[in-house]
Amino acid sequence: MKAPAFAFAGLGSYVPSRVLTNADFEKMLDTSDTWIRERTGIRERHIAGDGDTTSGMGKEASLRALAEAGLPPTELDLIVAATATPDRLLPSTACDIQALIGAKNAVAFDVGAACPGWIYGLVVAESMLAAGQARRALVIGTERLSAITDYTDRSTAVLFGDAAGAVVLAAGDGRRGILSSYLKSDGTLAELLHRPGGGAVHPPSEELLKDHSYYLKMAGREVFKAAVRSMGDAAQRALEKAGLAGDAVDLLVPHQANIRIIEATASHVNIPMDRVFVNVDRYGNTSSASIPLALDEARTSGRLQPGMVVLLVTFGAGFTWGAVVLRW
Ligand code: UT7
Repeated sequence: MKAPAFAFAGLGSYVPSRVLTNADFEKMLDTSDTWIRERTGIRERHIAGDGDTTSGMGKEASLRALAEAGLPPTELDLIVAATATPDRLLPSTACDIQALIGAKNAVAFDVGAACPGWIYGLVVAESMLAAGQARRALVIGTERLSAITDYTDRSTAVLFGDAAGAVVLAAGDGRRGILSSYLKSDGTLAELLHRPGGGAVHPPSEELLKDHSYYLKMAGREVFKAAVRSMGDAAQRALEKAGLAGDAVDLLVPHQANIRIIEATASHVNIPMDRVFVNVDRYGNTSSASIPLALDEARTSGRLQPGMVVLLVTFGAGFTWGAVVLRW
């Protein structure tokens, strides 16, 4: 196992205050609390208010992570942001957050990897730190999925929520930090989870507003099967790269999309559910914010303790997937 060169110096998250419960959806759509809980594990999700922009939520999470790291924003030299829901298509969300927090000495850019975006960003930042391109990085996952969710489509509307999470990555003590990582993608499966309209091929038009192609579309059952297969495989490969087996993992913090996917992933690497952190019931799927938000909650609730071996594993549109093993 390699000595971890870079550690989490600070972690922060933000969730908007407005809550949408399954009972609220029962009034809006042909669905039921029982169906949503049994098929997904979700009870409620937080939805952005007017003031909660993607970059604004990212800013709040970032300032909390920086405060814990004891680092003024001007000390950052790298900002990587992940989002599937940018406030606007140009410039990058990372540049917007850079301006909001006053990190004027950093280079800032986005990674496009959907739900795994924060994990991708973490690996990119670690690689740039290792290459000497930067010394202190901020990696953010921030999402306003309510802006691209079709609330007339019961097969997707109940799944998503809004949130942000951020971490400061810097040189550590050589004991705590990232032990291994594994990333993978398969672009041939893109049509199973995508937003068909609104890009350069189908730019905004009256037609686009009518046909709902601006919203996220998902072939749920196919995505489910691929998620189970890919997350199990990524978890296994990242553990192998770290020279560890599932029984060495103190806490599995998976992407929170569906409790049944989480259970299947944990079972694949022989990790019992009492060593799995789950908050999908309260937030739903918050895409790239999901894992940093879960990590922050695991810590606040006392589940995540210094020195623990933690496995992060994720899956999303692209398809993209991956895993990270770290010592907290
Ligand atoms: O972030 C990473 C990407 N996303 C994911 O990982 C999500 C992956 N997929 C899933 O989590 C699951 O596939 C869903 C939760 C989306 C759907 O669960 P499922 O067990 O795969 O259901 P299904 O799509 O096979 O649909 C079963 C039935 C269908 O009715 P029929 O055709 O059997 O009559 C659906 O129309 O459930 C129906 N259905 C609903 N019923 C009540 C679908 N959505 C709802 C709903 N309420 N909200």
